[in-house]
Amino acid sequence: MQTAMIPRTVRKAIIPAAGFGTRMLPATKSVPKELLPIVDRPILDYIVAEALAAGIEHVVIVTGRMKGAIEDYFDCAFEVDATLRRAGKTPLADRLATATPEVGAISFVRQQQARGLGHAVWTARHIIGDEPFAVLLPDMLMVDKEPCLQSMTDLYRRHGGNVVAVERCLPEETHKFGIVSLKQTLTGNLVDGLVEKPAPGTAPSNLFISGRYILQPEIFSILENQTPGAGGEVQLTDAMITLMKDQEIRAFEFGGRTFDCGNPAGFVAANLHMALTHPEIAAGIYGEMQALTSPARAIA
Ligand code: UTP
Repeated sequence: MQTAMIPRTVRKAIIPAAGFGTRMLPATKSVPKELLPIVDRPILDYIVAEALAAGIEHVVIVTGRMKGAIEDYFDCAFEVDATLRRAGKTPLADRLATATPEVGAISFVRQQQARGLGHAVWTARHIIGDEPFAVLLPDMLMVDKEPCLQSMTDLYRRHGGNVVAVERCLPEETHKFGIVSLKQTLTGNLVDGLVEKPAPGTAPSNLFISGRYILQPEIFSILENQTPGAGGEVQLTDAMITLMKDQEIRAFEFGGRTFDCGNPAGFVAANLHMALTHPEIAAGIYGEMQALTSPARAIA
């Protein structure tokens, strides 16, 4: 078992965005799932902002075929900027500029074949190198006063090792997730069991890994030889089971709201939540919802 690892800062993050997004078809036929908008920003923009807010200096986005629009989104749209400024629309131009990260803060790597989340993470190994890194799943929008990854990097700074965000799901939904069992220790809850998409009735708990990880670079050599698991895909969870033999994995129980924007219901719920907390449009949306839910005015 791993003993003391020197706690360090997490400087780099991987955002895997090369999947097909089949649950959001036909919208994702020509638009990457990660660029579908939550109110007025693509979901990926929220995820990159969460990473940067947690002190991440370099984000690696894993893309693939039909995902070129992701690179364009993070580029500088200088023609639009110049046109807006010439027309005196400075606030709009300034808003556009907030979507352009510092030059060099984002790199892109192609997965070439969508062989699973574990494989997507592995494709970024050369850019990450020999240091701890975060993974943020871009379809999981996690909302709390303190961003989830920030809480996790704080935990990491204190204890080192590996960290995963976990949440509780309904017992009948465990077969959809990577499920963990925990043991309590003096330094918090450590993962002592992990299974990807357990068969119904066999899950060790209803705690699922909910889309944020801090991992040590040793995971890359494990992923290199990882055979495909559930769904015929190279699973990150399976590699973490091997990693757990030598290193601690600490659980951070996320207490905010998570929206799985990779399916229509979660995507619409995320939009409603963000709209109802948006200072400029919340009042209007409340009005619309009242109209929609009023029996007298309901559209047949
Ligand atoms: P998901 O399984 O939620 O994404 O993977 P998906 O495969 O795109 O979705 P469906 O099931 O077909 O609807 C979580 C994240 O991992 C990325 C996805 O882009 C998504 O952001 N991913 C998944 C990859 O980058 N590569 C893969 O091979 C698989």
